[in-house]
Amino acid sequence: MEQKMANELNVFYPAAGKCSARIKIEQVKETANPDVLVGKAQLPLTDHVGKVVIYKTILQDGSIDLRAVSAYCPHQGYDISKDPLKADGNVYCSLHRRPICIYSEYNQAFAVENSGDEYWIIEN
Ligand code: FES
Repeated sequence: MEQKMANELNVFYPAAGKCSARIKIEQVKETANPDVLVGKAQLPLTDHVGKVVIYKTILQDGSIDLRAVSAYCPHQGYDISKDPLKADGNVYCSLHRRPICIYSEYNQAFAVENSGDEYWIIEN
């Protein structure tokens, strides 16, 4: 399995999305990209369960950073789950090429913990 190392990213900031209670991510599945999983969760500040994308990055100490964002682009809702994470910390939505910040300074991604087959968005 080939995974993106933190030092391949030009920038690396902790997940900045605010979450006040643990949220279970259901139906987590692998994708064709080994660094990307998809699942379903009700993200903070939303009123429904929706598709989320979980990005995996191996940090320099060997631990794995997991963070989740909505799978739907904030511009017009296109599914970004097949769009790769770039070295600037953004996923570029393939419909209109707008950046969605995942690992850079202004990210609104949510920190995720994994135990066995379970994935949880954690409080911060
Ligand atoms: S829908 Fe993603 S950039 Fe427009």
